[in-house]
Amino acid sequence: MTFTAKLASIASALFISASLALMPAPASATTKLSDDEVRLVQESWTLIQPQMGGVVERFYRRYFQLDPAAKDLFNEKTMKVQFSALSNILGDVAAGADDLSGFANRFKRLGSLHQSLGAEPHQFALFGVAFVDTLRLEMKSDFKPRARTAWNKIFYEMSKMMEAGYGE
Ligand code: HEM
Repeated sequence: MTFTAKLASIASALFISASLALMPAPASATTKLSDDEVRLVQESWTLIQPQMGGVVERFYRRYFQLDPAAKDLFNEKTMKVQFSALSNILGDVAAGADDLSGFANRFKRLGSLHQSLGAEPHQFALFGVAFVDTLRLEMKSDFKPRARTAWNKIFYEMSKMMEAGYGE
């Protein structure tokens, strides 16, 4: 690893710790997004659609940087399958972002599926960080800091709902 790459990985680890420290304490109830956050999520999701080709590649590159152990669970085919399913579900979540509790059963089932795939709940946070980072890098100044906060909340909620499907 080059010196610059090492620095980048230390910086991103610090950023993740900071982001996770800012996350609300775990709670069973779903956090409600404000109307402004719902609008920002929906707008950014619409805006990113023409760039989805670049997003897939960047996302997995970023995710495997943050969570190298996850590489073993994927190959070219699983990445495509997961990303296309992930895009579908995120589209639905963006559309229904005003009431995430409506997705509880769907994400619980998805959690059980991930348990059988060998994904561990602690990996969801890194997965979310990689995805939100990817949106930021692809959309540049179009991705407002408030949109980033709103997407972090979405990933936090999805992870919580998926975790509920573990050990069922
Ligand atoms: C918030 C976090 C995540 C979401 C929303 C998500 C979403 C999805 C969705 C919708 C699918 C397709 C399920 C189906 O076939 O019906 C999928 C598949 C998969 N996911 Fe995830 N995922 C997340 C985290 C992870 C993590 C952390 C890992 C690995 C460590 C992972 C590994 C996989 C694998 C290996 C597949 C199977 C692909 C295939 O069918 O070939 N996922 N995920």
